[in-house]
Amino acid sequence: MARRVSRPTQIRGEIVPPGDKSISHRAAILNSLAEGTARIANFAPGADCAATISCLRALGVKVESRAGARPTIEVAGVGMRGYAEPATVLDAGNSGTTMRLLTGLLTGQGFFTVISGDASLCSRPMGRLIHPLRLMGGRIYGRNRDTLAPLAIKGQEIHGLDYTLPVASAQIKSAMLIAGLFTVMKGKTIVREPALSRDHTERMLRAMGVKVTSEGSTATLVCPAAPPRALDIEVPGDISAAACWLVLGAIHPDARITIRGTGTNPTRTGIIDVLRRMGANLKIENERLANDEPVADLTIESSRLAAVDIEGDIVPRLIDEIPVLAVAACLAEGTTTIRDAAELRVKEADRIASLASELSRMGAAVEERPDGMVIRGRKKLAGAGCASHGDHRLAMALGIAGSVADGETLIEDAEAVDISYPGFWQELERAAAVRSR
Ligand code: S3P
Repeated sequence: MARRVSRPTQIRGEIVPPGDKSISHRAAILNSLAEGTARIANFAPGADCAATISCLRALGVKVESRAGARPTIEVAGVGMRGYAEPATVLDAGNSGTTMRLLTGLLTGQGFFTVISGDASLCSRPMGRLIHPLRLMGGRIYGRNRDTLAPLAIKGQEIHGLDYTLPVASAQIKSAMLIAGLFTVMKGKTIVREPALSRDHTERMLRAMGVKVTSEGSTATLVCPAAPPRALDIEVPGDISAAACWLVLGAIHPDARITIRGTGTNPTRTGIIDVLRRMGANLKIENERLANDEPVADLTIESSRLAAVDIEGDIVPRLIDEIPVLAVAACLAEGTTTIRDAAELRVKEADRIASLASELSRMGAAVEERPDGMVIRGRKKLAGAGCASHGDHRLAMALGIAGSVADGETLIEDAEAVDISYPGFWQELERAAAVRSR
């Protein structure tokens, strides 16, 4: 499906973003490990979290789901040893989080599983997952000399490990912490990261009564770990979805957007810090806590942005927001440099190459670097034909770019947004339609 986008004269809106994707995956998976039923409200509506639910069902977990504006699911936990060997291959679809977190869970089970996904997921690095889980005693095999999915997991008794990740990754950290729950008396699981990645797993495990300590960028699962207790969760709005509206509000010449109930966990708020450094007119109000996760309302107004350098420890705090931040950089005054972000090359698409090629079609000056890009700010973008490369974040970033460009932008494979934000195009139309009222 292709989508046409052009610039509205004015944008006014109050937006409630969908439930956070990272927190939703964890809420479903960690509650499946508990004994007891939990209700998860505002569960993320996209295909990625649906893949987690269908994998859990294939493992014998009962999950009831109710669609609607704020989808709710109920997970009947089976306990740590209550999963059933699946009869067929588990399908993680496009979702790296589903594959990596579930592989951690399956490493310590007493049965055999194969997990696979779509072409994009089967080309993403899995050696970084297999390696530490094998050091914990797991038996996991993959294509291309154990570096790519499909993965075959022969459940096994495993032990704790003190491990330093070569690259900060919440998915690998979470896989190890979940595997660590199964090590019983056999040592702590300590995960050290070069920079702190999102810490939703640590927070949720603590809220479920499991002893996990965090010190700087090191997470320690103390042994023997108690099994997690079932926990009702109200999922905060997804800051990665809110990021689109923050950038649109900042770069559109006549905009004011309020985004309600957005998660503001400090391991995810790099986008807010960078936009403020760029000079964005951004207000944070009604700060509160929902199940140990900070939440707030954000208001953004048209702003004059200046270029910034994005590098170092902030990168894991905004890694998923770089596509839309690149759009902001295209219209900022000066040259923005993004470094230390080679991870972008192994996301749902190669986000460095695809951003450079697609934004260049719109007249932007984006140069690729091995670990990032250099973007020279321009006064304007020009509408053009471009493509999402099947990547939800790229599709949304191009939608935002098209909403400030001169002329019309045609985005191919626009349905990619369904991975994390199925209502994105409708929301964009709604915010833009205000002009005709
Ligand atoms: C995620 C972690 C990040 C992020 C992804 C979601 C998570 O990936 O890019 O979209 O939910 O843990 P890495 O762990 O590979 O950095």
